[in-house]
Amino acid sequence: MIKFLVTFVLFTLFVNICTAANLVCFFTSWTVYRPGNGKYNVSNLPADLCTHVNYGFVGLQEYDGSLSILDDWEANGLYELEHLKQKRKQNPKLKLVVSMGGWNEGSEKYSHVAADPKLRKNMINSVLSFLDKYEFDGFDLDWEYPDQRGGKSEDVQNFVTLLKEFKEAFAPKNYILSIDVSGGVVSANTSYYIQEVGEAVDMINVMAYDYHGAFEDYVGHYAPLYASHLDYDELQQTLNVKSGIEFWLDQGAPASKLNLGIGTYGRGFTLADSKNTSLYAPMTGPCTAGPYTREEGTIGYNEICELYSDYTYYWDDEQKVPHIVKGNQWIGYDDATSVKDKVEFAKSKGLGGLMVWSLDTDDFMGICGNGKYPLIKTMKKTLNENYIS
Ligand SMILES: *[C@@H]1O[C@H](CO)[C@@H](O)[C@H](O)[C@H]1NC(C)=O
Ligand SMILES: *[C@@H]1O[C@H](CO)[C@@H](O)[C@H](O)[C@H]1NC(C)=O
Ligand SMILES: *[C@@H]1O[C@H](CO)[C@@H](O)[C@H](O)[C@H]1NC(C)=O
Repeated sequence: MIKFLVTFVLFTLFVNICTAANLVCFFTSWTVYRPGNGKYNVSNLPADLCTHVNYGFVGLQEYDGSLSILDDWEANGLYELEHLKQKRKQNPKLKLVVSMGGWNEGSEKYSHVAADPKLRKNMINSVLSFLDKYEFDGFDLDWEYPDQRGGKSEDVQNFVTLLKEFKEAFAPKNYILSIDVSGGVVSANTSYYIQEVGEAVDMINVMAYDYHGAFEDYVGHYAPLYASHLDYDELQQTLNVKSGIEFWLDQGAPASKLNLGIGTYGRGFTLADSKNTSLYAPMTGPCTAGPYTREEGTIGYNEICELYSDYTYYWDDEQKVPHIVKGNQWIGYDDATSVKDKVEFAKSKGLGGLMVWSLDTDDFMGICGNGKYPLIKTMKKTLNENYIS
């Protein structure tokens, strides 16, 4: 018995040392076009920071189901791939995964292709030859989302069928199959047969963010860890990380396949009344665009820490997330403190690891005095402290 226990303990230690938790980092090719300190490319990425780098994004051709390289953003297509491969030479454990889809690709093309056995086959063959040709380690499907945004109810079953066929086709080469899914309870309940999806894939990156934003009419945090007493109905009470992850688990997704998605950005508003800064306060529109990300309503952590240090900082101790306010500008985001709480939460649920959106909006230059990549390094450190798989 004692011999068995000793063997067991040693084995467990061995497994823990050998299987670091997943830290899936998104690289987004268009960030090389940002100005000044916001300009990001692969030379900014330490080879050992992440376990997986997801290259975003490639697209899908609706008429034949083939993969397309989205050239609109980057004239040279997969230009940075060669640099990423050099990183993998430095760190042979690093996995390079190509990600297809994303918000801008929409849902309709995917709905169309997933519904047709021939198009599905073409899609899978096209992805396979792409993985072979460019020497990726896996494929990540970011369909946002089955049966939403112009999709149809059959999408939910077709998505499972598509994933099963992908998995089977990937088996001989052992390619990784992952997906990015909604972290909202109502949204996930609409889009997925969770148990079947959980069986079909290797990893599920739960996008546990964008619960609130300037697409609504009031102030809210983009990614609260917990609910607030100000949440005024049952739906509002589910728009947080804890509810989303627990829903995925309760519906039968294996914890070890779930990666908790954490943002290195925030979402902000222009307040209707600069004296009312509470959750659900009325607002008149998105916050002003930042100089690097250049999009109203969202802002990078690097912009916040470098340029918004004169904003007033508030910590919401119920939701366990920060926001900053200046005049009529209100921005909710994640900092090292909230990231740590989220990682502890992921560990308490026995999740496989984390996904981070995205590399380019952490303080990758180390301008703010806490070293390079303060958020992602906090994720990594917290994730691997007393890690139990
Ligand atoms: C990538 O960034 C580095 C450091 O900022 C710079 O020296 C290099 O020229 C950049 N490469 C490309 C292709 O933009
Ligand atoms: C999920 O959807 C089913 C059927 O569409 C419904 O009965 C159920 O209440 C929903 N669950 C949640 C948590 O929204
Ligand atoms: C702020 O706005 C909310 C939502 O309209 C309202 O319930 C609350 O009373 C307002 N608070 C203040 C201080 O004006």
